[in-house]
Amino acid sequence: MADARPFFWEYIPTPVAREVFQIEGGRPLAGSIRVSGAKNAALKLLAAAVLTGERCRLENVPEIEDVRVMAETLADLGVVVDHPAPGRYEVASGDVDWLFVPLEAAARMRASFILFGPLLSRFGRVIISNPGGDRIGRRPVNLHVDAMRALGAEIDYRNGYYFAKAPGRLRGGEVTFPFVTVMGTENAMLAATLAEGRTIIRPAAQEPEVDDLITFLVKMGAVVERTAPDTIVVEGRRRLRGADHRVIPDRIEAGTFALAAAMAGGRVTLEGAPCELLGALLEILGRVGVEVSCAGDTIVVEGTPPAAGAYRPCDIETAPYPGLATDLQPPTTVLLTRADGLSHVHESIFEDRLEWLAELRRMGARVEILDSRHATIAGPTPLSGAEVAIPDLRAGASLILAALAAEGSSLIHGAHHVHRGYENIDAKFQHLGARIQRLPETASTPHA
Ligand code: UD1
Repeated sequence: MADARPFFWEYIPTPVAREVFQIEGGRPLAGSIRVSGAKNAALKLLAAAVLTGERCRLENVPEIEDVRVMAETLADLGVVVDHPAPGRYEVASGDVDWLFVPLEAAARMRASFILFGPLLSRFGRVIISNPGGDRIGRRPVNLHVDAMRALGAEIDYRNGYYFAKAPGRLRGGEVTFPFVTVMGTENAMLAATLAEGRTIIRPAAQEPEVDDLITFLVKMGAVVERTAPDTIVVEGRRRLRGADHRVIPDRIEAGTFALAAAMAGGRVTLEGAPCELLGALLEILGRVGVEVSCAGDTIVVEGTPPAAGAYRPCDIETAPYPGLATDLQPPTTVLLTRADGLSHVHESIFEDRLEWLAELRRMGARVEILDSRHATIAGPTPLSGAEVAIPDLRAGASLILAALAAEGSSLIHGAHHVHRGYENIDAKFQHLGARIQRLPETASTPHA
């Protein structure tokens, strides 16, 4: 390991450009947009590329902040990361010389913890920061750590860091989770590809992004199979090779834009949209009375503008795939403000993913937060423009949806949260006729 790099306390967090969204609401949307590549697949595919010294090429990678953070984190390890064109990344991990993922990376992006499995498995050791919690709850990583131990890793925890080593090589084993974890499944699977022998992961997450990762690993020469819906079996290999892969489309982005059309009204076509991956959301849209049609990889949503009538109320509950994605709960909750009657929201995956509803209330929503996982929405409430602050990625996109449908103008602070996970969201909404602008946060903007 090279010693030339600064030790972790010398890392200075990269300043984030402070921006606001300014939105003139009350205009229906119209037109068509193309869905970007999936954030939650791309980040794991980039991490998987460190399992081999050969070059891996990824296409349809979304141009978002989290991908840039992952690319920088890899580059800091000594990995060569090329970005030859928008949406294309090439990763060559021949010379990884720094098996240390600092607090700075973990603080900027929780998903940097996905490097734990691949680095430990390929190089036999790693020091990685505990990502801690974030604005949607505690978000521990104990299940990732237990999975690595089940594969023979020796792990100490000191000063907020996991010090892990695999004497010789990781050994295949039984990884049994007490409940479904997406990144836990992925970390275990990545580690197992280079372990000695067979690993069985149960219950394995069934999210489509996990299957995209399996497809890529198989192209790299890994032996990985989903033998039952909740079971993944990995036969470890001594080495993997480079591979090319196209990232699957982002079902959360597609769902967010479908909900925007429903919320603001208008006819919106989503091209390259993964209809088959959006079953739970499309079923809810049908229940509330939004017209949706799917043909091939195109979804057309026809929303009723707020002035033209209300939707039907609906109770929603998030669940692991194929249930309603927790990442689509906030924008779906926004839509329920337009339903005539009382709707219930049950957030079953994350604690504290309802707190942002206080911001939605500033726009006129009648929301009651019953506890950290339950809320009621009484509608229909015409929303009005307001000045609000974004607490996290998905709540941020949801406040944009509310502002697009609201009468009057809104100022939404904390745009950087949204750029973490949505590619050119303002340009895409402008293309659909929305009046949305991204402006620098200045001393004259309130809240600056
Ligand atoms: C991933 C997605 C995120 C999505 C979530 C659920 C990425 C980068 N993020 O997050 O967008 O909202 O799946 O679909 O892919 N848990 C533990 N211990 C652990 C790990 C998880 O208790 O070690 C708990 C979590 O606190 C949560 C539940 O398990 O309550 C599910 O979380 P998990 O599926 O692991 O979410 P992520 O993979 O972090």
